[in-house]
Amino acid sequence: MTDLPDRPAGNAAPPDEVRTMFDQIAARYEPLNAVISGFQEPRWRRRLVSATGLGPGMRAIDVASGTGVVARDLARVVGPNGHVLGVDVSAGMLARARNRLPAVGHLEYLVADAMELPVEDATYDAATIAFGMRNLPDYGRGFAEMRRAVRPGGIVACLEIARPSGVIGRVGRAWFEAVVPRIGQLAGQGDAYRYLVRSVRAYPPPEQIAAIMRDAGLVDVAWTPLTFGMVTLHTGRRP
Ligand SMILES: C[S@@+](CC[C@H](N)C(=O)[O-])C[C@H]1O[C@@H](n2cnc3c(N)ncnc32)[C@H](O)[C@@H]1O
Repeated sequence: MTDLPDRPAGNAAPPDEVRTMFDQIAARYEPLNAVISGFQEPRWRRRLVSATGLGPGMRAIDVASGTGVVARDLARVVGPNGHVLGVDVSAGMLARARNRLPAVGHLEYLVADAMELPVEDATYDAATIAFGMRNLPDYGRGFAEMRRAVRPGGIVACLEIARPSGVIGRVGRAWFEAVVPRIGQLAGQGDAYRYLVRSVRAYPPPEQIAAIMRDAGLVDVAWTPLTFGMVTLHTGRRP
């Protein structure tokens, strides 16, 4: 019997394949997202942004920013005297985000890997990640990089799809596992939406994610289930 090398908790799909897949779905990402979230996604996003405690003039980094839906919300909250940086490995997703930059230049995007954020230590008041953590090859490193990016006292907030229990949760799971891949297929993105289901199945439960966040050096770690536990919002603070 051979010993398998220790693998950190993280997405098993090869990072290059993940990036290529997001490049390919970029054009359809936002409308499909609205449908598969049952049009709940803007509500979840508002909870994420409000959990950061950001206000006018502050600075935020949005990791795995995609087409910039969260980054735009953050930019509205911090206003023209604040600053928001969105980073993502997919140039295709960020190209969509860049098409919708606000008139004032306080929101910018950078193609970069969440495993190695190209930012100085303690630069931001808050770091967010929405539906991105599940895609990273090492969740602990993802949280550690977000922790590094924020100042002492700064907030790290993570919104992610969860696997709810209970009756309503089971209905949600059935929708997610049976209907979502069909919707993806109809939209010509079958592989991507089968990957979505696999990556959600592999994502650890909330208490395990909280432990990973603590191991990454965050304190006051807490989580809130939203919409019958369909998604979970985790928060932590850099000490
Ligand atoms: C489901 S999308 C979420 C986009 C956006 N945050 C949202 O809420 O709509 C996941 C994003 O994670 C990005 N991603 C995957 N692996 C990454 C990595 N290692 N570093 C940075 N971004 C990554 C993908 O390119 C994709 O844009």
